[in-house]
Order: sequence, then C-alpha cells, then structure tokens
Amino acid sequence: MQIKEHVSLKKLNTFGIDVTSRYFAEIRTAHDLQNLFSQDIILDYPPLILGGGSNILFAGDYSGIVIHIATRGVEMIDPESGKVLSEGDSSDTGEVFVRVQAGEPWDDFVAHCVNKGWGGLENLSLIPGQVGSSPIQNIGAYGVEMKDCFHSLVAMEKKTGKLVTFNKEACQFGYRDSFFKQQGRDLYVILHVTFRLTTRNHQLHTSYGSLIPELKAMGINTPGIADIRKAVIAIRNSKLPDPEIIGNAGSFFKNPTISIETFERLRKNWPDMPGFPVPGGIKLAAGWLIEKAGWKAYREHHVGVHQHQALVLVNHGTATGQDILRLAEKISNSINQQFDINLETEVNII
Ligand code: FAD
Ligand code: EPU
Repeated sequence: MQIKEHVSLKKLNTFGIDVTSRYFAEIRTAHDLQNLFSQDIILDYPPLILGGGSNILFAGDYSGIVIHIATRGVEMIDPESGKVLSEGDSSDTGEVFVRVQAGEPWDDFVAHCVNKGWGGLENLSLIPGQVGSSPIQNIGAYGVEMKDCFHSLVAMEKKTGKLVTFNKEACQFGYRDSFFKQQGRDLYVILHVTFRLTTRNHQLHTSYGSLIPELKAMGINTPGIADIRKAVIAIRNSKLPDPEIIGNAGSFFKNPTISIETFERLRKNWPDMPGFPVPGGIKLAAGWLIEKAGWKAYREHHVGVHQHQALVLVNHGTATGQDILRLAEKISNSINQQFDINLETEVNII
C-alpha cells in the first residue's frame, strides 16, 4: 500500500470538484486498512473514507488523508458459519446470502444479481457508488431501500482496528439514515456487506409512481426482475444527469417529513402539492417545492439546478464546492421563506 501526497480528487467525486488531498491511500485488503490505521499518520491527518464519491461535496482541498476503498469480491455464503459456498453447494431454499466487499461498484453488483436470477435489489439499479457506502445512508429508490435485503455487515473500528459484525437492528436504518450517520458517525470503516436475496418467488415492487407506466410503455404486463431493472434504468436516464457528463451527487436535499396538520394547511395554498404518508407524518417531494419556488433549470455561471430534476444541483464545468454550497443555501432559504419548511442536505459536505 502506497501513501501518496497532493493527489487530485477531481475524478474521484461525481460533482467533479477540482480539489486535492494532502495524503491519499488506496485500500485493497482488510489487512491494508488495519495496517494503515496502526500508523501515526492517522493521528496527525484525519482520515476520510472515500467510496465512489457520489454523495460527497468537497468544500475545499482536504487537509487529511483520503482512504479510497478498492476491495473486490462477491461470494455466496452460509450465513451461520460464514463459509463460502460454490454454486453446487447451495440447496434450493429459495434464498441466497451474498457477501460483497466494500469496493465493489454498486450497480455492477445489482446487474450480477439480476443476471443470476437473485431478486431484491433490482429497483436499486443504476445508483452510483460502492457497496460499502450503501448502508451509510441506506440507499433507496423506486419503493425499495437497501435495508430490505440487508443481512449483516462487518466493519473495522477505527480506534482499535477490531472487526465488528453489525446485524440489521444494530444498523438502525431509516430514510437516508443509519447508525453510521448518527452515533457511529466516523467511527467505522465498512469492509463487507451480506445481502439476503431470493432465488424464486421474488417479491416485486412496482407501486412507485412512474414504474408501472414505464413497464406498460415497454409492453410488459407481468414483469420479472430483469424487466424492473430495465424500467428503472430507463426512468433514471430520463431525469437524472449522468455524472460523466454533468457533475452532480444525485438529490442534494432529503425529502422532508411534516405533520399531517401542516400538510393540510399547505394544501390550502398548494392543492397539487404531492405528499406521501409515512410513520410520523407526510413526506413531501423536495423537488416539487424547489421547482415551485422557481429554481428548476436555474443557472449561475457553472452552478445550477438540473432541468429535469430540481432536487439535483449540478456543476456545469468549473464550479467550486463553495459555489455549490452558496446556491444550496439560497435554495433552502427560499423554500423556508415560501413554505416555512427546512431542507436537510443529503449530500455529505466535507
Ligand atoms: P461516497 O460518496 O464515497 O461516500 C459517502 C459517505 O459514506 C461518506 O461519508 C464516506 O466517508 C462514507 N463511506 C463511503 N464508503 C465507506 C465505507 N466503506 N465505510 C465507511 N464509510 C464509508 N442515493 C440513493 O439513496 N438513491 C438514489 O436513487 C441515488 N441516486 C443517485 C443518482 C446520481 C446521479 C448520483 C450522482 C448519486 C445518487 N445517489 C443516490 C447518492 C449516492 O449514489 C449514494 O449515496 C451512494 O451510496 C454513495 O456511494 P459512494 O460509494 O459514492 O459514497
Ligand atoms: N418533482 C417535481 N419537480 C422536480 C422533481 C420532482 O415536481 O423537479 C415531483 C415529481 O413529479 C414527483 C415527486 O416530486 O411527484 C417525486 O419525484 P421523483 O420520483 O423524481 O423522486 P424524488 O423524491 O425527487 C427520490 C430520491 C431519489 C430516488 C427517487 C426514486 C430522495 C432525496 N431522493 O427523489 O434518490 O432516486 O426518489 O425513488 O429521497 C438520491 O438520493 O440521490 C436520489 C436520487
């Protein structure tokens, strides 16, 4: 493992922000990671764990050490013993447990599952980033969250170098939330995640707004997991910008939850305001609020709001992290003034 100095992070964050890291190391094994965390450099230079950089905004150069996770591997296992199984070993119980190293690209893994006929993650197709980051905010899309197929994970505790197993309960998953964003923030590095997937009688999720119309447009009435993947990819490609072309980190803000009373009051002024019942109230569509406030397709030099999805802030070229943050602040102030609602950022500001 090599520790490099003054490394450009431009290609390692999907916003495409042109910043550098004081130190930089790439981790290919758990042993590399434990070794790095036993060195003094970690005490003097705060570590930042970087996956695919698709949920991060660098506000400036990073003065610590960026640790990029590049571990690979997908294995079927016996969840009790942790023993690796070969295709022939597995008796057909209708489910499979799959252990995935943190550095595997998320969507390659989803494609692999669909090709193998393993169901559960197909609605989460085309989400950028790595498997190891997926539990951090419990990624979600089109009616499914990662937690729905989560079995367990193993993480290294930064302070001691010890490996700790977390089951689903310990991860405290919520909407774009987990233990790793709350009490466990910055304390662990996720090494691998085990998913529980179905091999037959898949439970399909097609109730999310645009999914059935998309499947119908594709001429599909009784979809399978591969059809759902195809439909999700088509919808996502129609509204979300490709970070290879326009810098972005997906939704910049979370969708806010408000009380039923507040929702009913707002609906008097905005009868078409979408709202979805969730435990604790009504979840609003922040993209709708931002569009109503007039920001959709807004552009100011190199920063802007995506033309097809107002929840996505974009870097049209040479925007800095500060430029994006200034625009985000203007937007959240305007939503606060117009609707008296506070938007919380989804993206991790570094
Ligand atoms: P990074 O951005 O590298 O890191 C995110 C956070 O996790 C950081 O705090 C980092 O320190 C930490 N972290 C990363 N790896 C580890 C690890 N191994 N151990 C401990 N901490 C770690 N998200 C959704 O939920 N749903 C969507 O539909 C969705 N769509 C998107 C569409 C686009 C076009 C883009 C650009 C982003 C989208 N996202 C979406 C956000 C993003 O893809 C996810 O949050 C993804 O899980 C981030 O993965 P990453 O590897 O890029 O994480
Ligand atoms: N809407 C607008 N204008 C917009 C954007 C959205 O009116 O510019 C309205 C839509 O018409 C729809 C509602 O808002 O009625 C919801 O829109 P959409 O289905 O596009 O989803 P979203 O709520 O904007 C969330 C996630 C996405 C995820 C999609 C699909 C959050 C913060 N975002 O977006 O996740 O892909 O649902 O499930 O929850 C991400 O987290 O980075 C992300 C992209």
